[in-house]
Amino acid sequence: MKIIYHGHSCFTFQSQGTSLIIDPFLTGNPLADISAEDVSVDAVLVTHGHADHLGDAVEIAKNNNSPIIGTFELVNYCIAKGAMGHTMHIGGAFDFPFGRVKLTIAHHGSTTDDTSLGNPCGIILTMDGKTVYHAGDTGLFLDMGLIGDTNTLDCALLPIGDNFTMGINDAVRAVKMLSPSIVIPMHYNTFDLIRQDPQVFKDALAGNEADVRILRPGESTEI
Ligand code: NI
Ligand code: MN
Repeated sequence: MKIIYHGHSCFTFQSQGTSLIIDPFLTGNPLADISAEDVSVDAVLVTHGHADHLGDAVEIAKNNNSPIIGTFELVNYCIAKGAMGHTMHIGGAFDFPFGRVKLTIAHHGSTTDDTSLGNPCGIILTMDGKTVYHAGDTGLFLDMGLIGDTNTLDCALLPIGDNFTMGINDAVRAVKMLSPSIVIPMHYNTFDLIRQDPQVFKDALAGNEADVRILRPGESTEI
């Protein structure tokens, strides 16, 4: 699977002709390397309703005639705006044509435009034999140990920006509970409030089995 970083918490996952995007915050994202109108995907995954995650999801879903996948409240909000959607909820998994999606807990908020979009989530994606965990926006939680115990994670995408989510120290603890083969830090340096040096995160995990890969927007990695 090829993972391409677009800045903040937005990634594209590509495997065998399928392309998915998660948390497509492109318009207004100073780090984004692509524009919403350039995105060609089979589905749009969204972790929660904050503008820096829901982002351009509705426009991209409409342009591609592709579904938005996420929690019931968030996806129904997108359907009301004219997008296609597949509603799920935390703890549930579904086998899509491209692979399996399971929603996890995340400790955060999910309100946009004064509308509550229910609970935020993390997403476990399994496609072509590879499993990736995108934590969404969350603080550290002990159940990450359960996620690590019940999944063989090829890759974990973890926020390190602090202030709104885990910072570096808590993300290091998360890695120890999740035991992923590869870790990619996200949700940092987009705004001044979440300025972090990802090299500090990488150095803190020296000696851990996880391979920390720092991607700049537009860069990709194979997992
Ligand atoms: Ni958020
Ligand atoms: Mn966020």
